[in-house]
Amino acid sequence: MAKLSIRDLELVGQRVFVRVDFNVPLSEVGQVTDDTRIRESLPTIKYALEKGARLILASHLGRPKGKPNPKMSLRPAAERLGELLGQPVTFAEDCVGTVAEEKSQVRENGQVLLLENLRFHIEEEKNDQGFARALAALCDKLYVNDAFGSAHRAHASTEGITRFVDKAAAGLLMEKELTYLTKAIAQPDRPYVAVLGGAKVSDKIEVIANLLRLVDTLILGGGMAYTFLNSKNIPVGRSLVEGDKLPLAAQLLAEAARRNVQVLLPVDHVVAEKLDPAARTEVVALKEIPDSKMALDIGPRTIEVFAAVIHRAKTIVWNGPMGVFEHAPFAQGTLAIARAIADSDATSIVGGGDSVAAAHKAGVANRMTHISTGGGASLEFLGGRKLPGVEALTDLADRQAGRS
Ligand code: 3PG
Repeated sequence: MAKLSIRDLELVGQRVFVRVDFNVPLSEVGQVTDDTRIRESLPTIKYALEKGARLILASHLGRPKGKPNPKMSLRPAAERLGELLGQPVTFAEDCVGTVAEEKSQVRENGQVLLLENLRFHIEEEKNDQGFARALAALCDKLYVNDAFGSAHRAHASTEGITRFVDKAAAGLLMEKELTYLTKAIAQPDRPYVAVLGGAKVSDKIEVIANLLRLVDTLILGGGMAYTFLNSKNIPVGRSLVEGDKLPLAAQLLAEAARRNVQVLLPVDHVVAEKLDPAARTEVVALKEIPDSKMALDIGPRTIEVFAAVIHRAKTIVWNGPMGVFEHAPFAQGTLAIARAIADSDATSIVGGGDSVAAAHKAGVANRMTHISTGGGASLEFLGGRKLPGVEALTDLADRQAGRS
């Protein structure tokens, strides 16, 4: 059902709680090293400021496990946002309690406050109702969720809070993401190809199971491919294998076969004795990974096979690198796949920090149809799951009923 939009809200003079996703990487000295997510939130923030709102922004950063951790403070994000907006952004050293209550008074229209990391309180991830109520109490019962990247989490600031406000609306970034991703699942042009990579199968099991219902071809690379290969009794040397996931990997392959979904796994590999950019590398065939070595990238033949399928695709979803692309000797597979996706005529959707970084590194990010700010969120959505952070927003029908 369609959800209320920030454009439906009367914002002038109102203190609005805006959940953003400022989960950005920080350097050792606490500087934002990639401000994409902050930039992507600017349309919503600027829109609200132009309409005369008083903004209370909140986000998580990292996984501090419910305890304050100065290395995961949002203060650097407040500074970066201030630079991008060209106006000061006040920072509250806590997201609840006296500091937050005092600073959230925000007495003038057009002012911006950013609260400290929500996850410094364990109640955030537990979706504690008292905590959600305390967050809601900071605003004038108007809530906007622009944190698409966190919409798959049912946390206090993404789900619980909506029960304690009058209106819960989607921000402009949230709307943009949902528009692109909905197109990809509603009536995807075919062939529909999903390219999944990254280290762990366990992160992507549910998504793979769901995507099998939608796609024509599933391309699996990266560390997780080796659990799948090993589940077919192919020796993988010392490559990453999640032993407890082998039966599940076998089941997923069987399910794919039952549904006539083509699954492509690496057919050759770049191997080394250890994960060290200085280590000697060699390319070996499918079943030739030596016992002493591990696969750290897909090989040239695999690139050809994957690229040929990508070339014919009409819809492509990509999440996760094909190898340890942070190191040059193991980056070729991921960069080649990024280029192949960009060169195709398909609608291409890229999600996940690593794939997005790889698309930039390959110089093709601007040739992707949509780069999502949400890795896990975009995958879950594309896999057919409802996102709690979206579901909790006010239904347009409710609002209309309320007005009549
Ligand atoms: C992300 O980076 O994918 C989002 O900010 C969510 O972070 P999380 O996986 O720690 O919930």
